[in-house]
Amino acid sequence: MLQLTKRVIENTEIQQDICLISISWDKDAKPGQFVMVKCGDDTLLRRPFSIHSISDGELKILYQVKGKGTKFMQGLKKGSSISIIGPLGNGFTIPRDTSKALIVGGGVGIAPLLFLLEKLNHRGIHTLSLLGFKEKPFRVEAFEKFSKTLISTESGTYGEKGTVIEILREINLKGFDIVYGCGPKPMLRSLRELTDKEGIKCQISLEERMGCGIGACLSCVCMIRDKNGWSYKRVCKEGPIFWAKDVMI
Ligand SMILES: Cc1cc2nc3c(=O)[nH]c(=O)nc-3n(C[C@H](O)[C@H](O)[C@H](O)COP(=O)(O)OP(=O)(O)OC[C@H]3O[C@@H](n4cnc5c(N)ncnc54)[C@H](O)[C@@H]3O)c2cc1C
Ligand code: FES
Repeated sequence: MLQLTKRVIENTEIQQDICLISISWDKDAKPGQFVMVKCGDDTLLRRPFSIHSISDGELKILYQVKGKGTKFMQGLKKGSSISIIGPLGNGFTIPRDTSKALIVGGGVGIAPLLFLLEKLNHRGIHTLSLLGFKEKPFRVEAFEKFSKTLISTESGTYGEKGTVIEILREINLKGFDIVYGCGPKPMLRSLRELTDKEGIKCQISLEERMGCGIGACLSCVCMIRDKNGWSYKRVCKEGPIFWAKDVMI
C-alpha cells in the first residue's frame, strides 16, 4: 500500500457540483483502478475515486460534490497538499482478441472510462462511447478525442432524450467484442441483461461504500459468482471491476 502526499495542480468546478482535480503524479496505474483520498483532518475515512486519466505527470479525478468529503475536496486550492493511497483495485481487462469495444457511462460514472478509452485507443481498438446524463453533459469533448461519442440526457436538452440504455437498445451489440460500463446500479443492471441476452462480454465498475479501500474491513462486499458459485467478494480488492454476468445487482 502506497500512501502518497501529492500537490494539487488545478481544481475546477466544470459544472455545478461536478469538479475536475489534477494532482501531481509519477506512478503507473491500470484503467479502472482507484485511489483513496484523505478529505481533511476531521474525516476519518478516506474516500474512493476512480482514476479519470494519467498523463504528463498529472492524475485527474472527476468528482461529484455529495457530502462532507467531496465538499472538502472542492475547497482545495492550487498548490495545497493532498494525501492519497493508491492505485488500488484490479482494473479493466482487455482481452487479447478485442478489436471493437463499446463504452457505456452514466453521470459521474463516466470517470474511469476515459482512462480506459485512452488505453483502448493506444492499442488500436475501435471504440464507440455512449454517455448518459441527467441534464447537462460534461467531459464529452475529452471522450470525443478518442472515439465517436453519442450522448443522452433525461431532460432531452442535449443529445437523445432518455437514458443511455435507450441508445444502447438501438445499437447492434453483436458488432462489439466487449462492452465496458460504469454508472448507477439500474443502468448496470440493464447493461448486464442486454449483454447477457446477446452473449457479449461485459465488464462493469462497481461502487460500494468503502471503509479502508485495502481489503481489511469488509464494508464493501458484494455477491459475485466464480467457479465455486456465489460468494461475497471485496469490491476494493477483488474489484472494483467484475464481469457483469457474475455480479448480483
Ligand atoms: C471504487 C469507487 C470509485 C469511485 N469513483 C468515483 C469518481 O470517480 N467520482 C465520484 O464522484 N465518485 C466516485 N465514487 C463515489 C465516491 O466515493 C463518493 O461519492 C464519495 O465517497 C462521497 O463522499 P462524501 O464524503 O462527499 O459523501 P458522504 O457524506 O459520505 O455521502 C453523501 C452521499 O453520497 C452517498 N455515497 C457515499 N459514498 C458512496 C459510494 N461509494 N457509492 C455511492 N454513493 C455513495 C451516500 O450514500 C450519501 O447519500 C467512487 C466510489 C467507489 C467505491
Ligand atoms: S473497503 Fe475495507 S474491505 Fe473493502
